[in-house]
Amino acid sequence: MKVKAAVAHSAKQPLSIEIVDLEGPKEGEVLVEIKASGVCHTDAYTLSGADPEGLFPAILGHEGAGIVVEVGSGVKSLQKGDRVIPLYVPECRNCKFCLSGKTNLCQAIRETQGKGVMPDGSSRFSLNGKMLHHYMGTSTFANYTVVPEIALAKIREDAPLEKVCLLGCGITTGIGAVINTAKVQVGDNVVVFGLGGVGLSVIQGAKLAGANMIIGVDINPNKKALGEKLGMTHFVNPKEVEGDLVPYLVNLTNGGADFSFECIGNVKIMRQALECCHKGWGTCVIVGVAGAGEEISTRPFQLVTGRTWKGTAFGGTKGRTHLPKIVDWYMEGKINIDDLITEFMPIEDINRAFDLMHAGKSIRSVVTF
Ligand code: APR
Ligand code: ZN
Repeated sequence: MKVKAAVAHSAKQPLSIEIVDLEGPKEGEVLVEIKASGVCHTDAYTLSGADPEGLFPAILGHEGAGIVVEVGSGVKSLQKGDRVIPLYVPECRNCKFCLSGKTNLCQAIRETQGKGVMPDGSSRFSLNGKMLHHYMGTSTFANYTVVPEIALAKIREDAPLEKVCLLGCGITTGIGAVINTAKVQVGDNVVVFGLGGVGLSVIQGAKLAGANMIIGVDINPNKKALGEKLGMTHFVNPKEVEGDLVPYLVNLTNGGADFSFECIGNVKIMRQALECCHKGWGTCVIVGVAGAGEEISTRPFQLVTGRTWKGTAFGGTKGRTHLPKIVDWYMEGKINIDDLITEFMPIEDINRAFDLMHAGKSIRSVVTF
């Protein structure tokens, strides 16, 4: 079939809107009509050419939501008409990782996903007979896409797809980092570095978990108001702190954070995030994605004296199991998605979404089809 897609022909080039060919779903695959997709930093990172695993030409996009149009042979858990969110971290419930019960990092289709193809090794997308790569197993910058059954979370029918698409990445990552990875407890003091869509969602998660102090750290003072609306109790602008930030935060929390979250992807801030944790038990969760090849450092004494460094991908969320519940939380008013959407725009304007992101003017832009 012919579908409309924003194609990334090569790195550093704007996306171009094209009519491309999409083959139907094969065994274990599902054809999904994408209704909306968020534009995330990971898409921009790949498009910038800095991602060593980036492949071109490709159809980017991984924060989408849509409706099942057709299922391939052997697909049992989904049928035509189901509302779904594509998962860049699938959940096969059958691999060593899924069966461990200890992680959300399903490895069932990791290898082919990283190569930009479906699990059988081929692509469903092409343009003028030339193959286009899939991206993160999702390729949501197209009005139709083919996704493996194990990489689709079925959600309730009444959820607005142009909102809940954001649960496909950033918002779930932030909330999940608090609930699944850190397991923040009532009364904990939390410090969040970086108040973009991810950090603001850490704030929401910390509020849900009943945290005491929820301290947001950002160099952009414009983030304060929304942070407070979502549950932040204190805002710290590092540019306005006299002296070092770490002792300032340790003092503010009366000894250090029970949990800190780095939601920027800056290895220097990752160190500050660890070192502002409480001696003896404080845990720092790395949520932001640093550039390829970058390294973190601290003095080992920080760990010897009881601080923990850990990390999370997709907030430790098992997509097929957990996402339907997170959608319920949104529908019940327990979490806020609407205020994190700074603009809706048609897919034709997608390059503007990248411009707004680079200018720091958006939290999330959502493209619709
Ligand atoms: N100190 C404090 N805040 C900073 C600093 C800094 N040195 N540098 C940037 N920030 C703030 C920005 O002002 C912005 O508000 O961090 C925030 C980052 O937000 P976004 O750029 O909107 O990023 P977001 O979508 O939230 O993702 C954050 O998670 O998924 C990953 O790749 C993503 O690494 C990125 C991170
Ligand atoms: Zn698995």
